[in-house]
Parts: sequence; C-alpha cells; structure tokens
Amino acid sequence: WNKGTTNIVTSVAGDILINPNYKDRVTLNVLTGSLELRNLAVSDTGEYGVSITPTAGDASITGQATLNVYEPVTNVRITTNNTDLVEFNDTVRLSCSASGSSLSFLWFNDSVEVTASDRVRITDGGATLTIVTVLRYDQGSYTCEVSNLVSSNRVRLTISPSAEYYGEGSVVSFSCSADSRPEAQFRWFINGEMSSSTGAQINLVMEQSGNYSCRAFNSKTLRYTTSQPEEISVLSKNISGSTNKKTYRFIPVEGTSVNLTCDASGSIFTRKWMISGVELKPSENIVFHEEKRVLSFRNLTRKDDGRYTCRISNPVSSQSVNYTMNVNYGPDSVQISGPMEVQEGSTLKLSCSAESVPTAKYTWTKDGTTLGQSHEYTKDNIKFSDGGEYICQATNDITMKSSEASPTGLSTGAVIGITVASLAAVAGAATGAFYMFKHK
Ligand SMILES: *[C@@H]1O[C@H](CO)[C@@H](O)[C@H](O)[C@H]1NC(C)=O
Ligand SMILES: *[C@@H]1O[C@H](CO)[C@@H](O)[C@H](O)[C@H]1NC(C)=O
Ligand SMILES: *[C@@H]1O[C@H](CO)[C@@H](O)[C@H](O)[C@H]1NC(C)=O
Ligand SMILES: *[C@@H]1O[C@H](CO)[C@@H](O)[C@H](O)[C@H]1NC(C)=O
Repeated sequence: WNKGTTNIVTSVAGDILINPNYKDRVTLNVLTGSLELRNLAVSDTGEYGVSITPTAGDASITGQATLNVYEPVTNVRITTNNTDLVEFNDTVRLSCSASGSSLSFLWFNDSVEVTASDRVRITDGGATLTIVTVLRYDQGSYTCEVSNLVSSNRVRLTISPSAEYYGEGSVVSFSCSADSRPEAQFRWFINGEMSSSTGAQINLVMEQSGNYSCRAFNSKTLRYTTSQPEEISVLSKNISGSTNKKTYRFIPVEGTSVNLTCDASGSIFTRKWMISGVELKPSENIVFHEEKRVLSFRNLTRKDDGRYTCRISNPVSSQSVNYTMNVNYGPDSVQISGPMEVQEGSTLKLSCSAESVPTAKYTWTKDGTTLGQSHEYTKDNIKFSDGGEYICQATNDITMKSSEASPTGLSTGAVIGITVASLAAVAGAATGAFYMFKHK
C-alpha cells in the first residue's frame, strides 16, 4: 500500500514491512489485502493505492482510493467591529471563525436564517455578515452556525427514494436527525421558507423544484441547527402538445410549405417525430427546427399524408401527440366517360371524375349554358340539337384551383364532343358520315 509516492506497508511472502511513520497505526490483512488505518488526522487525506502481484513475475493488479479526513468543528467565535450602532448611520460587520475543515456557515437573526439583501451581505464563504445602515429592527441576537460533514451537531437530511428527478405528484419522504439531548424538535424549510410541517419525518407530494432543509431545535439549550439544503428537481408529468398552434386555420395544401409544431408544457428533454410509428429523418422535403419543436415541409405533396406523432419525453414521463395530415390537392386528371355518339330518342349519360381532395365540385356546360352541378349528367329523349361539345369543369374550393385555369378556363375541365345520329344517319354510318370529337 502507498499514499502518493510514500510506501505505507509491503508484504512479500508473509513478511510485513511497515513504514516507521505508520508504526502502530496500520494493520494489513494479507488474506484480503485490506489496510486498516487508525487515529486518522487531516493529513491522512489523499490518494491511496494498492498493488498486488499474485506470483512473482506475474503482472500486478492495482487499485486506487481517495480518503478525505475532516476535522470536527470547534472554537466557533463571532467578532464584530462595533456593537454600539446608530440607526441610518452605521454599518456593522460580524465575522465568524472556527476550527475545522470544509466549513459551512449559516447566520440566524433571533433564530431566523439571515439571507442576503440590499442591506445585508454575506461574504467570505458565509463567514462574514455585514449589515449596511443598521435599522432599529436589526437589534437582536445573532447566531453563527458552523458545520462540516463530520461536525457532531450536524443535522442530517435523508430523502427517499433518492433520485435525480422526481415526477410531479410523486411522494417523497424526508427524514431529519440530529444528535441532541433532549430530543430535537424539527421544522422544515422549502426554499428557505418555513413550512407548516413538523416532525422528524414528513412525506411530501412533489409539486415544484426547490431546496429542502430541516432545522433541529433543542428546547433546553435553545440552539438551532439547520441541515445542508437538498435540491429537489421536480419534472412536470403532464406534458401536453399540439401539432399546430393555429389548427383552426391550418389547412395543408399541396405545393405549399407547412410547419407542424409540437408544443408542450412541463420540462421536455427530447422530442421525436414519427409517421405511422417510423421515426422521421430530415430529407430534401423535411427540415426540423428548434430541437424538433417544428417539423417543416418545404413542399407538401399528397404523399405526405399520414398520421404524424410527436413523442415528447423527460425522465419521468413521455407522451405522444398525433396529427393526421390530409393534404388538399387537385383537381387533376379531369375525365369524362360516356358515349361518343347516341341515338336520337335515347338517354345520354355522362359522368365526370377528377383527382381532388376535398372532392371536386362539377359543373356541366354546353354552348355556354349550365346544364348541371353533379358529377353525372343525364338527359332523356335526346334530340339532334343535343349534339355538340359538353364541358365538365371541376372545382376545388380549398385549393381554389379551377379559378387558376388557362385562358379558356377549361384546363381543369374536360370537353366531350357528342354527335347525335338520326336513324337515317345511322344507316349512312358506314359511309363515314359521322364526326366524333374529343378535346381535352
Ligand atoms: C449621522 O449621520 C449624519 C449625516 O452623515 C451626521 O450629520 C450625524 O452627525 C451622524 N450622527 C451620529 C450620531 O454619528
Ligand atoms: C432581523 O429580524 C427582524 C425581525 O424579523 C427584521 O425586522 C430585521 O430586518 C432582521 N435583520 C436582519 C439583518 O436580518
Ligand atoms: C437551490 O439553491 C441553489 C443555491 O442557492 C440555487 O442555485 C438553486 O437555483 C436553488 N434551486 C431551486 C429549485 O430553487
Ligand atoms: C416554419 O418554421 C420555421 C422555423 O420556425 C420558419 O422559419 C418558417 O418561416 C416557418 N414556415 C411556415 C410556413 O410557417
């Protein structure tokens, strides 16, 4: 065993050699390799190492350990520059000193913890309390409480379960203990404010992050001791989200650029976007902004339809928000189906279709006259004069597309030329007397 470069004890083949500086203070257990060090002093603080060679010539196995030795707090004293003070004129400085290592200081003004403000400064790592321009209300008894990890009057605060984060609404148990005779009475502080809770153990429903501490009071000695504060991080459990803030106005249209926004209340650690359960990756069309708060489509197409999920998580909860994308598009590929020629006296039935979301509205016209407003047009008892061009125009109210048609206004429509044949004319059909037209 060694401390830094100093050898403490060596055992070779059962012979134990102890550094004279450690004589009577160390015992080596050759079976377990453990070292016992007694009568610790602050100077024993340091890095310890052990090296074990199973058999001469073999490679050594090494181990390291850090030892911190603290000196208990003693000799606490307050000194002041002045105790005879004039209101509004004087500044008073109280200095607290003590022996011991790694000291922490707390100040009390008639048992209330003093916190820094415009007039009150706490400096030198807490050891000095300065009250600038004293007021009559500052009069009272001031206590300096000094502690370190091993001071015997230390108040210990234990939290269970112990965790890095607590979910909102989870129950956490705090227990406080202190060496005290008679038994100490306990008060609890949240962010420095005294809570109504008393008792050595309290269970609290976690609502917000904060610094928790407990104070032990001895009714005989009239002394207070406060634990080190423990910081508790509470994470909101109810993350809620929305995919687009302006849902009431949000209508996805093909060819436009669209943002889906995933907002949530509470502490968020990660966001993940998925479509039909598969994680979305950035692509030519998809860009993420603000750590995935915004999913941006550069140029929306009908292929982007689907169920989008934004998964928001923090260490205590996760939640998904869904948005179903229905891209509006069209009308495209307007087509008329029906006969090219019909017999006089029979029924003409034409039907029009278009690729469109939402479903297109159809208007039939012939020679500038509107014939109907449905995807089908039917006319009984056809006359010779019914021959001609039938136009179907499809309109999408959302994409407003038919209004952007070509100069004739027919680009989103379809035209069919129909010839009506009389019986006599049918007879002459073989002579090629019929004309058929089809325009698009
Ligand atoms: C208090 O301060 C004022 C203004 O600086 C001064 O006039 C007065 O003499 C001081 N009083 C005492 C008692 O020091
Ligand atoms: C001391 O306590 C009194 C009473 O609560 C208060 O008015 C005064 O401001 C306190 N002074 C300091 C320095 O904390
Ligand atoms: C707890 O106290 C520390 C040190 O004063 C401070 O930095 C931190 O913000 C506090 N935490 C909360 C949740 O108030
Ligand atoms: C989408 O969000 C990004 C980043 O916040 C912004 O730059 C862009 O203008 C937004 N686009 C639309 C269509 O709202």
